[in-house]
Amino acid sequence: MRGRMRVAVVGAGGWGEHHARIFSRREDTELVAVCGRTPARTQARAERYGATPYTDLDEMLRSEHPELVTVCLPNEDHYDVTLKLVRTGVPLLVEKPLVFDLAEADTLLAEAEARDHFFAINFNHRYAEPVQRAKALIDAGELGDLIFATWRFGGEANRGRSPHANLIETQCHGFDMLEHLVGPISAVSAHLTDKTYGAFSTIALALDFENRAVGTMLGTYDSSYAYPDTQRIEVNGTKGRLVIHDTVRALTFSKAGDPVEQRWHSTYFDDEARNFAGTFDRHVDALLTALRAGEQPPVHARAGRRALALAHATIESHETGRRVSTA
Ligand SMILES: NC(=O)c1ccc[n+]([C@@H]2O[C@H](COP(=O)([O-])OP(=O)(O)OC[C@H]3O[C@@H](n4cnc5c(N)ncnc54)[C@H](O)[C@@H]3O)[C@@H](O)[C@H]2O)c1
Repeated sequence: MRGRMRVAVVGAGGWGEHHARIFSRREDTELVAVCGRTPARTQARAERYGATPYTDLDEMLRSEHPELVTVCLPNEDHYDVTLKLVRTGVPLLVEKPLVFDLAEADTLLAEAEARDHFFAINFNHRYAEPVQRAKALIDAGELGDLIFATWRFGGEANRGRSPHANLIETQCHGFDMLEHLVGPISAVSAHLTDKTYGAFSTIALALDFENRAVGTMLGTYDSSYAYPDTQRIEVNGTKGRLVIHDTVRALTFSKAGDPVEQRWHSTYFDDEARNFAGTFDRHVDALLTALRAGEQPPVHARAGRRALALAHATIESHETGRRVSTA
């Protein structure tokens, strides 16, 4: 193994703290820089994690020569900084959503492809222990032929400029998860409401999958993260059914006709598997292994473009009142 990888984090906000924490605490990485917008906040974050603060991205790149840059900026402000970084060729991990606009997503991916660029997106829910166990059950055929799947996720509003903030920045996890577990979504039919504060803060979708399973998605900013099971995934097949509770909380699995349910939960001493932010730590494990091996990222930024395309199909379905193909 080479020496510690030099990592820079762009963004010193709430979730950006996890970026700083992870790369400053790992033995195989060194957090060399935190690059933010607000000097005092950036300095405090950098000091806390033993890095150098910057408010100028170019200066940071010139001075620190990072081997990986992670980007954790406000949801609707990802494009300019990501484009600049893609063009430098530095390996990149960006937060979801990739961007809000499909043309911008295409530009980012085309620029990255032209450079054979390492370009990852943080769909960390895939790394939750219940999700990994659910995927293993599905891949082993324990559910039989998949027939339907449902995703529900909702909490307090994160109000943004876009009327589709909930759909694009939060339910992107749902699109990614359903395709990860069930396979490609081939069509969407959408019902959206803006009845609370003018943005489409609650969405209800009916889905077709390419494998002829069907699905539903309910995503809302008009609920509360305090509610138990505010995040719930159910996958039903001919031989069994599984349910993921609150992403990391529990996985239940039942065989058709058998009233005895199997349940995974994190055990008494296992704090790691019950920690939501730990899904990001696990994703970073896989990402660094791939980066060091010269491979593509485990979750390529293309997955962000795909979730965005499904969101835009949802908007089209809502606006036309028609089912929209996403095959
Ligand atoms: N993967 C996950 O589970 C997960 C969880 C929470 C948030 N997120 C994502 O993380 C991202 C950031 O979320 P947050 O809650 O930290 O947001 P935030 O608004 O708290 O933080 C963003 C920070 O970026 C700074 N900033 C703005 N423009 C900048 C620029 N040009 N250069 C440097 N800094 C700049 C802001 O000053 C702010 O401090 C979002 O994309 C969000 O969707 C992901």
